[in-house]
Amino acid sequence: PSTEPQSGSGHELVVVANRLPVDARTLPDGATEWVTSPGGLVTAMESVMRTVDSGAWVGWAGSPGEAPEPFEADGMALYPVALEKDDVEKYYEGFSNATLWPLYHDVIVDPVFHRTWWDSYVATNRRFAKAAAPVASRGGVVWVHDYQLQLVPEMIRSARPDVRIGFFNHIPFPPVELFSQLPKRNQILRGLLGSDVVGFQRESDALNFLASVRKLLGYQVEGHVITVPGIGSAPAREVVAKTFPISIDSKAVSALTEEPDVIERTAQLRRDLGNPKKIVLGVDRLDYTKGIRHRLKAWQELLNDGSVDPSETVMIQVATPSRERVEAYKQLRDEVELTVGRINGDFAPIGRPAVSYQHRSFDRRDMTALFMAADVVLVTALRDGMNLVAKEYVASRPDLRGVLVLSEFAGAADELRAAVLVNPHDIDGLKSATLRALAMPEEDQEEAMRSLRRQVMDHDVQAWAHSFLEELEQAGQPQDSGPAL
Ligand code: ADP
Ligand code: G6P
Repeated sequence: PSTEPQSGSGHELVVVANRLPVDARTLPDGATEWVTSPGGLVTAMESVMRTVDSGAWVGWAGSPGEAPEPFEADGMALYPVALEKDDVEKYYEGFSNATLWPLYHDVIVDPVFHRTWWDSYVATNRRFAKAAAPVASRGGVVWVHDYQLQLVPEMIRSARPDVRIGFFNHIPFPPVELFSQLPKRNQILRGLLGSDVVGFQRESDALNFLASVRKLLGYQVEGHVITVPGIGSAPAREVVAKTFPISIDSKAVSALTEEPDVIERTAQLRRDLGNPKKIVLGVDRLDYTKGIRHRLKAWQELLNDGSVDPSETVMIQVATPSRERVEAYKQLRDEVELTVGRINGDFAPIGRPAVSYQHRSFDRRDMTALFMAADVVLVTALRDGMNLVAKEYVASRPDLRGVLVLSEFAGAADELRAAVLVNPHDIDGLKSATLRALAMPEEDQEEAMRSLRRQVMDHDVQAWAHSFLEELEQAGQPQDSGPAL
């Protein structure tokens, strides 16, 4: 962070997301430190915005209370939005992460509905819209991201009919039977339909959304195009709802593997673990959608029945702290840490773990070293929009070694067909897939990894952003500026 942004006539591309790419942390001496925000949305969009001129990002700086002043970082203008403690509890932890998140992830845990949470969601979405609307240049593009901000497209449209509005949903969109449980379902659909283009990770997400629009609002849907009737004398509008599978900055990740200090960190990691024959790795936010419990259960059984020897094979589980005040996340953390403790108590050789559990963030270089050291990566999500970890592992293996075990329920499974695909609910299936991955001959590893790399290196996040923005370019029908919010 350095100077204040030059707003002038506004920005041609404005990203609106719940989080800024960086979180503000207050140090003991009162100074502010900025650290990369967690999650796949930030990983992907940060790479995109680095290549854009005149870009702006509107979002929350990660702590309750007053927002920092707007500032410039890496050539991008950042506009912080304030969330008070009450908004954090009701809009962020409540409606976003205890209502929408579980509902959109196939109700793996029960969604909780509270009317006061909804009121806060509406008010906070309005605050984001108000912060974003004046920042866009005339005829510019506003790109709204994810489930926390589904009302923002309609709110921006009513203030700025001259801009093109895109929305991308980073998480799954549920089948109409589940979505219908949401008490405010029609308001959410109308909010999203303020966009010109609504993007989804998988074709099934786009189809679920189209079916909800048809069934719940009764709007005409033809292929991927929705006709939104005009109100009063306003003409009808067309909204496109399509699939744009997100990706990573594949070349940048792959290039890191050639850096001498990353290569040294990889070797050091193996030494620190006592040079095991095999390393199995899991990297996730500590979230119940990631199937960490299923993975640990399978691992525990493999150790218990003697199929895996803990003196030869080590599991590393990186579990990034996430949403720590939400009940289901507290419970998950307790269960995971209890299970890891049991596994280590029962099986770890003295001085070495059977499961090395890391509950913290790592920098990109350490993350790449982990991927380079891993013989097998387990992605066992019960439901996941995409899962960028799977793609990062593939991009980190130009040596064509290593095996990706990938859940059928992650969006990445639609593209990464050469992975060892698993149903994580089937513990026996997960165990045999893990053993197969551990025993896979080098020629077979190479063949699979070559095919996976063709997919990941050719379809990177820049290509993803380009295709979304191109669709938006064709779809938008800008009009004159309208009334203020
Ligand atoms: P989600 O968005 O649900 O968290 P993804 O797999 O799509 O899941 O994206 C997670 C991103 O966060 C990846 O870029 C991954 O490398 C990164 N990540 C996960 N855990 C950590 C960690 N402990 N430290 C640093 N980055 C992490
Ligand atoms: C996922 C979501 C993002 C979210 C991230 C981290 O990637 O799609 O919208 O930012 O998780 O979660 P958090 O609640 O910490 O922002």
